[in-house]
Amino acid sequence: MRIFVTRKIPNVGLDLMRDAGFELDVWSEDLPPSHDAILSRVPGCDGILSLLTDTIDAAVMDAAGPQLKVVSNFAVGYNNIDVVEAKKRGIAVGNTPDVLTEATADLAFSLLIASARRIGESQSFVKQGQWKTWDPLGQIGLDLLGKTIGIYGMGRIGAALAKRCQGGWGMQVIYCARSPKPEYEESLNARRVDFATLLKESDFISAHAPLTPETEGVFDAQAFAQMKTSAVFINTARGGIHNQLDLYDALKSQRIFAAGLDVTDPEPMDSDDPLLSLSNCIVVPHIGSATIASRGGMATIAAENVILGVGGKPLRCCV
Ligand code: NAP
Ligand code: GLV
Repeated sequence: MRIFVTRKIPNVGLDLMRDAGFELDVWSEDLPPSHDAILSRVPGCDGILSLLTDTIDAAVMDAAGPQLKVVSNFAVGYNNIDVVEAKKRGIAVGNTPDVLTEATADLAFSLLIASARRIGESQSFVKQGQWKTWDPLGQIGLDLLGKTIGIYGMGRIGAALAKRCQGGWGMQVIYCARSPKPEYEESLNARRVDFATLLKESDFISAHAPLTPETEGVFDAQAFAQMKTSAVFINTARGGIHNQLDLYDALKSQRIFAAGLDVTDPEPMDSDDPLLSLSNCIVVPHIGSATIASRGGMATIAAENVILGVGGKPLRCCV
């Protein structure tokens, strides 16, 4: 059985597949394979272990051939895979939920508190030698205690962030999701609201929905215009959920207070992207799941999904 692994992943996953007797073709470069490179490597593969940086579409499935049984994504998000095409062809699609929930919620909270307390610009201030004295009026940020957190996409990660905000900082939780979440309404006293109310009432808004045709670009100029001028926008989901030029305008004009982004559109962000010139925007390079335990867990699940999928069995985590 041959598996194309589109990048080096933690050994725990590679070892599992090798121990199962699979022949691995691991893309060994630091940058992802181009679409053409994927097309040239997949013919004859029984499985593909892909990353969120790879587009796995009908062309890739055609190039692989009819023996392709599973596409196992090393991520919980799967907007890079044409799941409808895979389903038509009976190809199983796997992802890696749960093991990265807490790490990603921690990162979202880090961005939230760093944006509220102006950590990014304060660090630049020190590094640039501008720290001359303790300033009673300098670097004044926002309080968190008792404020309202608005969660856009109240799933695993959204709820884990809400738990931190409600339990640790006594925040009110409001949320948008496609369906009500009675368990969080009870345990976190969360209130389901429509999108307009989320924008209007939240002090902090954090995006945790998948990137889909419905969520693409929902945080646009119109949305930012409805937010409080003291609002902070956090996105650790997918960059396509916000409109980046509109976000720049909202931050530049101080229509909203600040933003913290783990995800951008496009990724990677250009080093001369105008957002990077703003003192009220923190950007980190898509590191939500970048902890030892999360990445190890992702590698294990992704490998198990490959082994099960190639064996024609139900995946451990199936999209
Ligand atoms: P999840 O448990 O499936 O949660 C997603 C939530 O979004 C669900 O509650 C879903 O609502 C809601 N949703 C879907 N469409 C929506 C819409 N149109 N409007 C409002 N809410 C909508 O997924 P998760 O494990 O929390 O992961 C969420 C996303 O985070 C992933 O898809 C991925 O893109 C991103 N992510 C990023 C990182 C990172 O490194 N930055 C790490 C992990 C994940 P229903 O339950 O009602 O359908
Ligand atoms: C990371 O972005 C993931 O979807 O796991």
